[in-house]
Amino acid sequence: MSNYHIKHLEEYFKVYRKSVREPEIFWEEIAEEHFLWRKRWNKVLSWDFQKPEIKWFEGAKLNITENCIDRHLVTKGEKTAILFEPNNPDEEAQHISYNELYKKVNRFANVLKDEGIKKGDRVCIYLPMIPELAVSVLACARIGAIHSVVFAGFSSTALSTRINDSDCKMVITSDGSFRGAKTIDLKSIVDEALEDCPDVNSVLVAKRIHSEVTMKAGRDKWLQTLLDNASSECAPELMDAEDPLFILYTSGSTGKPKGMVHTTAGYMVYTAYTFKNMFQYKENDVYWCTADIGWITGHSYIVYGPLANGATTVMFEGVPSYPDFGRFWEIIQKHKVNQFYTAPTAIRALAKEKLDFVEKYDLSSLKVIGSVGEPINEEAWHWYNDNIGKRKSPVIDTWWQTETGGIMISPIPYVTPTIPTYATLPFIGVQPAIMDEAGNELKGNQVEGRLCIKFPWPSIARTIWGNHQRYKETYFTTYKDNYFTGDGALRDATGYYRITGRVDDVIIVSGHNLGTAPIEDAINEHPAVAESAIVGFPHDIKGNALYGYVILKETGNTRDHDNLRKEINQLITEHIGPIAKLNKIQFTEGLPKTRSGKIMRRILRKIACGDTSNLGDTSTLLNPEVVERIIEEKI
Ligand code: WT7
Repeated sequence: MSNYHIKHLEEYFKVYRKSVREPEIFWEEIAEEHFLWRKRWNKVLSWDFQKPEIKWFEGAKLNITENCIDRHLVTKGEKTAILFEPNNPDEEAQHISYNELYKKVNRFANVLKDEGIKKGDRVCIYLPMIPELAVSVLACARIGAIHSVVFAGFSSTALSTRINDSDCKMVITSDGSFRGAKTIDLKSIVDEALEDCPDVNSVLVAKRIHSEVTMKAGRDKWLQTLLDNASSECAPELMDAEDPLFILYTSGSTGKPKGMVHTTAGYMVYTAYTFKNMFQYKENDVYWCTADIGWITGHSYIVYGPLANGATTVMFEGVPSYPDFGRFWEIIQKHKVNQFYTAPTAIRALAKEKLDFVEKYDLSSLKVIGSVGEPINEEAWHWYNDNIGKRKSPVIDTWWQTETGGIMISPIPYVTPTIPTYATLPFIGVQPAIMDEAGNELKGNQVEGRLCIKFPWPSIARTIWGNHQRYKETYFTTYKDNYFTGDGALRDATGYYRITGRVDDVIIVSGHNLGTAPIEDAINEHPAVAESAIVGFPHDIKGNALYGYVILKETGNTRDHDNLRKEINQLITEHIGPIAKLNKIQFTEGLPKTRSGKIMRRILRKIACGDTSNLGDTSTLLNPEVVERIIEEKI
């Protein structure tokens, strides 16, 4: 018997040891016994972190949708695969069975083919959280097209950049979206984006808000009309284990987003295996992850991981505050949710509201409650544990990244004893290392440094689309022979891990990963701006908020500063999206720089946090006098 489902701590340690000592034998057993392969692999793993090149299950043939849908039909055809809960609580929820999902995905796959999409083509999906989003993702996978989902909160510029970077031929969108009391006109955002995307020759439009939209003749088509005429049988494309499954963009330390490429077999095996264990999923459970499918959490733990296990996965279209702050808890009661997975920023926002919103509802169905996206502070952890988990459902603080594809460090509920703010132990097969700044591994316990992973796991991203060199430089050159996560971490006396936060130019705001560079690029587009620097500072609900230091050009200084602040945030909204707006903007005459011209963000960060007592060594600065001025003028 393989070790697919871990139930005790001793078993965890035993299986963990095996996964480290004999990784190939271990993963081969998991892969063999729990998935459907059309051809077996020749080699379980080959890897080289120098090149870098990582291959899992090479030579195998499969289709991930056969694993997520077809193979469940015999035993679970009538079981709900996707449970759609609309934005408006008065609109009826939809229970989409595995049989129905099969037909929907096959129809959609046939539409894609009719539109000329072939294996390997890139398809951009820009949709709200409606069933068509999950279905279009799976339809791409069915025919071997590479999906690139762009979160529907991104602006038209962010969208066109992503479409062009991976040269998508098609965009799938909707007339608009419902978000709380608002409706958003998605189609016109797409139209604007496509002015800069000459290679997109087909746009499929789902109807959601039934608004008037302009349809460009020859390019835009109503999705439903095409689906109505498509057959519900579409043979799955046989994919190589290492064929790309999708591209998903994440921010980095330059202005250009990184298109992380995930491949088929390893991603499937790892997301399915982690899903089963992290949520201790049992056959009739209802599982709900509140993320958007536009992020990796949604890819791995709304779509692929749950469906590969034949689970019922909830897709929620709305927001936690609509029609009131009890919405999450109302949904848990209504659908008798057993596993609930959300982000610290949502927990903090809801914890600020009256407890009545929680107490009105029966949450007794819950068995596991999860957290993901950023470090969860102690207060939020306790609020979640006391009021939602009722101290009986374990809180799992799951650490991972877009690049890792699946959960890497986390307690396994009912297996690993939890401690607030600790992600605790590495998952099976994950080999973390803590490094000092000089690049030495800090062995033993009670150490703090930078978090690396020293051995490949099946769902590691294989490259950055179109830029393997950047992949190498970002993840594999800082620490030789290691994957560098960009996070700081400590390992305590018992071997538990605590993630301390980003150590690079990425700031996590409300659980969204934001690179400082693209925001600075957007600000610098303003005609009155000469230069800018962004840092994070602690915020009650968002975790971090953004603080911008902006140097104006001569001409800018005569302008009204409040107006300039608005214009700057408007530019950021246009270039990236409202999630990247700055909370505070300080106009200043200079930025602290090293002699080599690098902005000393460490100092700016301290000033933004109001912690100016110990700024560290400023003697290496080119312009130490500017620091005093910035402190005096702080807003
Ligand atoms: C970064 C990755 C993984 C899905 C959502 C975010 C931070 C994520 C935790 C956690 C502390 C966390 C890290 C990581 N992060 N989960 N449980 N504790 N930090 O994916 O957008 O790629 O962001 O989010 O800093 O590097 P992402």
